[in-house]
Amino acid sequence: MKKLIAGNWKMNGSLQSNTALVQALLSNAAQWKCDVALCVPAPYLSQLQSLSKASPLLFGAQDVSMHEAGAYTGEVSAAMLKDFDCRYAIVGHSERRQFHAENDALVAAKAQKALAFGITPIVCVGETLQEREAGLTEEVVKRQLAAVIHVNGHCISEIVLAYEPVWAIGTGKTATPEQAQHVHAVLRGQLRAASAHADRVHIVYGGSMNAANAAQLLAQPDIDGGLVGGASLKAADFLSIIAAAH
Ligand code: 13P
Repeated sequence: MKKLIAGNWKMNGSLQSNTALVQALLSNAAQWKCDVALCVPAPYLSQLQSLSKASPLLFGAQDVSMHEAGAYTGEVSAAMLKDFDCRYAIVGHSERRQFHAENDALVAAKAQKALAFGITPIVCVGETLQEREAGLTEEVVKRQLAAVIHVNGHCISEIVLAYEPVWAIGTGKTATPEQAQHVHAVLRGQLRAASAHADRVHIVYGGSMNAANAAQLLAQPDIDGGLVGGASLKAADFLSIIAAAH
């Protein structure tokens, strides 16, 4: 399957720097052999919509509300994201689980809402260092994915799944290709048990992916792309990762 390289800008960017970054990426677009997406802060969705017009660049949000509309101050609905042609919405990123107390059930509800509005949720799962050291990695990621499967049933093949070990995010510590492949294979098995179409689900890796380590990670049989934080903010680095995905 065609790989997917998605940037997660997190809370970074400005109107000016976004234009420069996206233009630098697009000047290379003729070389892309994978799908490329940027998940940007909500205020910049409209800017991405115009910058990416008539280009292969896809874009999305970093979160979505579990509610459809109403008195939910600060929330952004799936319908609003759809208004701006969002293709993706990250749900359950570890930073939201950690700093916004998002639990498995909420993440599953958000994924469901995205799917209902034709937006592909990029569902993040991953263990903390403490959980890994306690030998709980498989248990944790399976529990996180099971909640999403439970709520979304046969639609599960419409998601993108991101394995992001929390200890590898923003730390410069990357999972080894073997460590990542092992968890991806576990997740693939769980998807296969839930859906006949599990093999078309992109399972992407995130956590300090960079120009130097991307090729080895992306060569693993169950690593179908990357969810890239820091390195997606620099055009040259992000383009190197894109070039490694073929
Ligand atoms: P880094 O690539 O900065 O480690 O972030 C990974 C991530 O959290 C992507 O969602």
